[in-house]
Amino acid sequence: MTVTAVPTSDTRLELPPLKLGPLTVDAPVILAPMAGITNKAFRRLCREYGGGLYVSEMVTSRALVERSPESMRIISHDEDEKVRSVQLYGVDPKTVGAAVRLLVEEDRADHIDLNFGCPVPKVTRKGGGSALPWKLDLFTGIVQTAVKEASKGNIPLTIKMRKGIDDDHLTYLDAGRIARDAGVAAVALHGRTASQFYSGKADWSAIANLREALPDIPVLGNGDIWSAEDAIRMVRETGVDGIVVGRGCQGRPWLFGDLQAAFEGSDRRYRPGLKEVAESVYRHAQLLIETFGDEGKALRDIRKHMAWYFKGYMVGGELRAKLATVPTLEVLRELLDTLDMSAPYPGADAEGPRGRAGSPKRTALPEKWLESRLLNDAQQADISAAELDVSGG
Ligand SMILES: Cc1cc2nc3c(=O)[nH]c(=O)nc-3n(C[C@H](O)[C@H](O)[C@H](O)COP(=O)(O)O)c2cc1C
Repeated sequence: MTVTAVPTSDTRLELPPLKLGPLTVDAPVILAPMAGITNKAFRRLCREYGGGLYVSEMVTSRALVERSPESMRIISHDEDEKVRSVQLYGVDPKTVGAAVRLLVEEDRADHIDLNFGCPVPKVTRKGGGSALPWKLDLFTGIVQTAVKEASKGNIPLTIKMRKGIDDDHLTYLDAGRIARDAGVAAVALHGRTASQFYSGKADWSAIANLREALPDIPVLGNGDIWSAEDAIRMVRETGVDGIVVGRGCQGRPWLFGDLQAAFEGSDRRYRPGLKEVAESVYRHAQLLIETFGDEGKALRDIRKHMAWYFKGYMVGGELRAKLATVPTLEVLRELLDTLDMSAPYPGADAEGPRGRAGSPKRTALPEKWLESRLLNDAQQADISAAELDVSGG
């Protein structure tokens, strides 16, 4: 892999390892949970480049308690994953508590994160995801129960959330304090509201506010980190103890190498030529086959990564189209072999935003949700039905 030095001392910053309860994470870097992305295969690719904490795709508490085959796949880890990190989604304290208990009693996780950031209408319409912290009683109940169950196994529990529903209904400061008081090991904030989806820019000043409001626990910053330099800038601007990277590593697992280097104060950066990118795509596909045990499924999955991997590289339109519909590992090999393997790293064109963007929309909510910060009887009755087959955040 091509490695170059970035000639600026402005990119240097040394940050101590991240403490999450009993765990010490060597680099203060976290792979954001991403449904459909952060499976065992992708986590392995990322882990091979650097230290940090690599979170699973989220699993719904109900599906986990019911031991659906898909949820058991999601929570499985490679033998050499030092910290087995699982993200749970849930909307009622009992089911979330049962899911945490399962993970703890069966020794299936070393770290558990709770997802309160999902902005998808089918989730918020039922009062779940990023709509949930608005209801202080429900949010408190879920976090307290989860922490209590996790603490029985000395497993650190963290939460991940957005700023709130929209600019007039922010929840992150209340939620952060409630979670801190409940005993969470850290709080992560994505600097957007639910109604922003993935549009606009993440508001790092909200992350700085949260850092200031919670001086006694680690605060993790998330949103729009596309490079190691962005990560350093986020730490400088907000004072966070660690950073959470989502879309920035899509098609760029080597970003974790850059992040580790940056936090060690090094200027080393990965600058892969096309040959190295092609090798990574092929390996990713192989690992997906191992993960799913199904070549067809693995190849369908790798297709969505193609545009991310080849962003900015000289790859013709026809070949891109073929890569995006690749049917088998053998055809993938043939297509990759037609690339110009001498093409160097293209620079800025390969960097910057990628992945989900979307546009702002009013958040879908249950009736009368915003009228009170406490659940009414009807909402209470509906909430346990709110845990659908959801994916994403
Ligand atoms: C494809 C995709 C899937 C996601 N799935 C989850 C998820 O399962 N749980 C979660 O908490 N957030 C999820 N997110 C949100 C990310 O974890 C992260 O908060 C968000 O992308 C902002 O960070 P970024 O700007 O670094 O991408 C998802 C995001 C994307 C793009």
